[in-house]
Amino acid sequence: MNNIFVELKHGTKEAHTVLEATYPFNTMMKSEIFDRQAYSKNITVLASFHHYVYELLKKFNGCVSFTQYMQAEDVVVAVDSDLHALLSNPQYCDFPAVIDVQEPEAMLAAAYVWMGSSMGARILYRWLNHAGFESLPMNYYETMIGLGKQWELFVRDGQVWADVHRVNPKKCITSANQLFEGLRLCAQSLTHQQRHPA
Ligand code: HEM
Repeated sequence: MNNIFVELKHGTKEAHTVLEATYPFNTMMKSEIFDRQAYSKNITVLASFHHYVYELLKKFNGCVSFTQYMQAEDVVVAVDSDLHALLSNPQYCDFPAVIDVQEPEAMLAAAYVWMGSSMGARILYRWLNHAGFESLPMNYYETMIGLGKQWELFVRDGQVWADVHRVNPKKCITSANQLFEGLRLCAQSLTHQQRHPA
């Protein structure tokens, strides 16, 4: 396999499955257990992740071409506005993954997980609007649907960049899995703060 994105998809499949099965993500699309609290925690975890990567990106200041597709500023503003609409005193979790974006593998992995989180956005947004949850703030998902439309361009530029920088697929997969694990730990730390239905 010489397509880094095919390798990333295979290499992170298990971590994605585990994350989807973790509260609060496991309540999405399930009307009987989903509620405002689960949604608030979902947005809290996502806000923590996006802030973590956003801070790392700042160090690069536009030096990497494919980061334009991440619309980092818009995503962070959108997720924060949802968070503040949901909670009077929102608190981010300390995002536990430690990746070094000075390394091209980690940089690409961070962008991959960020852009990949747009993949489920359309289906989740549609479900929220048809399952009686349309009053919830959804700026984040609306913004991510926009990012999803850029996926193919992102993959094209990302592949060129990976070739130029001789990105090691194994290292890249490891970084992406560290980010998935960070998301899971972040979700878990919120779950332990309060009882939940799932
Ligand atoms: C309820 C939670 C979630 C659902 C229902 C969901 C759903 C999906 C779906 C439907 C896909 C496309 C699968 C395919 O085309 O084969 C996908 C891919 C993906 N998602 Fe999620 N997702 C969720 C959470 C997340 C989160 C929280 C992240 C990261 C922050 C994430 C990152 C990714 C990535 C990296 C991909 C792979 C993209 C690719 O290589 O094609 N997902 N997800």
